[in-house]
Amino acid sequence: MTERQSPTAAIVLAAGEGTRMRASRPKVLFELLGRSMLGHVLAAVRALSGDVVVVTGHRRGEVEAHLEEIDAEARPVFQPEQRGTGHAVRVALEALAALRQLPATSDLTGSVLVVPADTPLLTPSSLQAVLEHRESTGAACVVLTAIPPDPAGYGRVIRGDDGALAAIVEDKDADAAQRAIREVNTGVYAFEARALARVLGRLTTDNAQGEEYLTDVVGILVADGERVSAVVASDWREALGVNDRAQLALARACLRDRRNTELMRAGVTIIDPATTWVDVGVQVEPDAEIWPNTILVGATRVAGGARVGPNCYLADTDVGSGARIRDATCEGAWIGPDAEVGPYTYLRPGTRLGRAAKAGAYVEMKNATVGAESKVPHLSYVGDATIGERTNIGAATVFVNYDGLAKHHSVVGDDVRIGSDTMIVAPVSIGDGAYTAAGSVIVDDVPPGALAVARARQRNVEGWVLRRRPGSAAAEAARRAGATEPTPGDAPAPGDAPAPGDADDRSSG
Ligand code: UD1
Ligand code: CA
Repeated sequence: MTERQSPTAAIVLAAGEGTRMRASRPKVLFELLGRSMLGHVLAAVRALSGDVVVVTGHRRGEVEAHLEEIDAEARPVFQPEQRGTGHAVRVALEALAALRQLPATSDLTGSVLVVPADTPLLTPSSLQAVLEHRESTGAACVVLTAIPPDPAGYGRVIRGDDGALAAIVEDKDADAAQRAIREVNTGVYAFEARALARVLGRLTTDNAQGEEYLTDVVGILVADGERVSAVVASDWREALGVNDRAQLALARACLRDRRNTELMRAGVTIIDPATTWVDVGVQVEPDAEIWPNTILVGATRVAGGARVGPNCYLADTDVGSGARIRDATCEGAWIGPDAEVGPYTYLRPGTRLGRAAKAGAYVEMKNATVGAESKVPHLSYVGDATIGERTNIGAATVFVNYDGLAKHHSVVGDDVRIGSDTMIVAPVSIGDGAYTAAGSVIVDDVPPGALAVARARQRNVEGWVLRRRPGSAAAEAARRAGATEPTPGDAPAPGDAPAPGDADDRSSG
C-alpha cells in the first residue's frame, strides 16, 4: 500500500432528482437489503480514511436527515440547482476548501475521490485501487471503468490508438461508433485536487443535456497534457448505476447474490440463493440452513444448527441453535434452541419461546413467554401471557387479553394441561399442574393441581331428528342405526321445544 502524503477527501454525489425513478422520495434513499443506496456507497467510501462530503440538492431535507442518521460525520454540501455532475463537484470542492480553512480550491492538495450515490455495488477494494493507482503514478485523474454486457446509458470510454484514455462521451452525445464501445465510465474517479480545481471552471453546458459534465474533465486534462488513466473494474456489476426501478431490482439481485455467496463461503447452507434475501444487518452463523423463499431482515440472528424456511419472513428475530422454523412470519421474536415454529405461524413482538418449545400450525403469539418444552401446537392465540415449562395448550385455545379498554396478562404454570378450545379471560392465573376441561371459559384463577370446568353440561334430546326432520337423510341414517320415536302420549322430552331458529321446518329433506 502506498504511503499517503496528503489528505484524501471523498465527494459523494447525491443531489440529482432521479427523474427516471418516478418516485415521491429521493432516489438515493431507496433500499437494497435493508440499507439505502446512499448507505451502501458511504459504507464503501468509509472503508477508506479521509473527509467525506455529500452533495445534496433535490429534496435535501430528507437526504440530510437520513445522512445524519447513518453517518453523522459526513458533511452535507448543498447544490441549490442541479446543473450537472461537474457543477456538483465544483460546489463540493469549495466546501472542502472552506472545511480545511484554505482561501481557494486551488490551495487544496492530495487526492479527491468522486463517487456517485447511485452505484450501490461499488466495493472498497475498487475505490482503494483507483486511489492507489493515482497516488503511485502521480496522475491528475484515474477513472474507474467497467465492461458491462450492455453499455447503453453509460458514458463511453474513448481510448487513443495507443490505448491511452482520451475522453469520456455521454451516451446521449455519442455517435454510432462511440455507442458501440463497451467500456463505460463507472462515475468513480480519483483526482489530484489542484488539477481538478483548475479545470472545473472550464466546463461548458454545450451538450445534449445542457449540463456541466464532470466527464468532460478527462478530455480537458488530456488536452492540457496531464497524465490521465483508467482502472478497469474486475467485476462489471460494480458499475451498475441505478437510474430507474428496473436497474434497482437488478442491483438488489446482485447484492443478494453477493451476500449469499459470502454466507455460503462462511459455512451457511442456502438451498436456493435466488429466493433467499438476507439484509446486510442480519447475522447468520456457520452451519445454519436456509431453505427457499426466506427473507431475513433487520437485526435478525440465526444460530448455527438452526434451520429457517421454506417460506419464512423473519424481522428482528433471534433463532437459537437447533431451532426449526418453516412457513412462518416472526417479528421481534426470540426463538430458543431446539424450538419448533410453523407451519403457518405468526410470532409478533415480545414472543419468547424457551428451549424445545413449540408454536405450531395457525398459532399467533404476541408479548408471550413460553417456557422450555411447552407446546402450543394448533390454532391458538397467545397474547400477553406467561406460560411455564412442559405445559400443553390444547388446540384452539385463546388468551382473551383485551376487554375493549386495556390489555391484561395471564399466567399459566408448569406441567399444566389446557383443554382444547379453552378461553383464558385475562387476567387469570392457572397454577402448576392444573387442568382445564375442553371448551371452558376460564375467568377465575385455577389453583395448582385443580381441574377447572367452566361450560354447560351436555344433554341429548332423544328422537329429535325423527320428529323434526322426518324423511331426511339424517332421519333415515338414525333409523338404520336403531333410533326410534318416543311413543305418542309420552311426556315431551326435556328441551324438545324448538330452540329459536333451529327448527322452523324450512330445511328440505
Ligand atoms: C453519470 C456519468 C456517466 C456514467 C454514469 C455511471 C456524467 C455526466 N455522466 O451518468 O458517464 O457512465 O454516471 O453511473 O457524469 N448529481 C448531482 N448533481 C447534479 C447532477 C447529478 O449530485 O447536478 C448526482 C446524481 O444524484 C447521481 C450522480 O450525480 O448520484 C450521477 O448523476 P446521473 O444523472 O445519475 O448521471 P448518469 O446519467 O447516470
Ligand atoms: Ca446515474
